[in-house]
Amino acid sequence: MTRIYFNEVATRDGFQIEPNFIPTDTKVALVDALSQCGYAKIEVTSFTSPKAIPMLRDAEEVMGRIRRRPGVEYTVLVPNLRGAERALESRADELNLVMSTSETHNLANLRMTRERSFAALEGVIRHVAGRTPINVSLSTCFGCPMEGEVPQDEVLRFARRFAELGEDRVRGLTICDTTGMAHPAQVARMVAALQKEFTALQLTLHFHNTRGMGLANVLAAVQGGITRFDGSLGGLGGCPYAPGASGNISSEDAIHMLDAMGYDTGIDIPRLLDIARQLPEIVGHEVPGQVAKAGRITDLHPAPAYVAELRARAAEGGA
Ligand code: COA
Ligand code: ZN
Repeated sequence: MTRIYFNEVATRDGFQIEPNFIPTDTKVALVDALSQCGYAKIEVTSFTSPKAIPMLRDAEEVMGRIRRRPGVEYTVLVPNLRGAERALESRADELNLVMSTSETHNLANLRMTRERSFAALEGVIRHVAGRTPINVSLSTCFGCPMEGEVPQDEVLRFARRFAELGEDRVRGLTICDTTGMAHPAQVARMVAALQKEFTALQLTLHFHNTRGMGLANVLAAVQGGITRFDGSLGGLGGCPYAPGASGNISSEDAIHMLDAMGYDTGIDIPRLLDIARQLPEIVGHEVPGQVAKAGRITDLHPAPAYVAELRARAAEGGA
């Protein structure tokens, strides 16, 4: 049975776009509950500027108060050296650095050119190397909402530059479809190219369901041999610097699909669904995830009483 590893990003990618501040106690309780579900990793928060992302201004407190469960890695998003220092101080298990493969999105999100971002992140990587594992998330790899197409070669070029810093420095790359522009044929091509070239790295795919192609893209990636995915409980999420961005793939929907297909996700699905059902109250609105509403395919409903009558009549030869 193929093992699939999930990284839950609801409290980071999910929460960062929510308009109303979610109390620190609620964030801590949610991470603690998610820690009991069998995730390989949880992206708890981000160490960004509190002016840029006010929702996550309590990053230190959240990291300090969660109960860490052995076997779960607690990762955090980091945009710069200042963020890296804060993340190290908070004893994050992994630093997830971020930049875009689209120049326009990088300027909008991180306020600098891609070259400056790369140089800054390279500095962070040299500074952190040997202390904490590093993952690099590349945004807008399947298209930029402002520029349009991002050529696959451009994605591979940045992936290569990070990989060339050495596996002892960068252990993984996350290829992000930040605004849900990927389609399955494109994913299959990207995954084939990545798998061929970056054999020593942990490769993770990060999809948004903005145009309803999220789970189809997960399937295309799994069929191409990818075993690591980011997902957001309830399908919350989106980048505040990407016009029209909407939710990540819903973790529970993706996990439910892969489980039904016979993949080993390691996740306690009933427990996860219980938590997913609490999300509308936490964020104050409906969330897109579907399985939490419909139940699992194995959660059956009693047949209406007249079905038994019809069956009995059929058995008597009357229908
Ligand atoms: N943690 C805390 N504060 C930070 C910080 C960090 N990692 N990085 C910068 N700051 C503060 C600076 O101290 C400065 O504060 P001041 O105005 O009180 O002096 C302010 O933010 C601006 O700093 P500057 O270095 O000029 O950065 P910037 O304005 O160019 O912003 C980013 C750069 C990347 C830090 C900021 O745009 C950011 O955090 N963006 C969020 C990106 C993100 O998470 N997007 C969504 C996920 S993909
Ligand atoms: Zn995202």
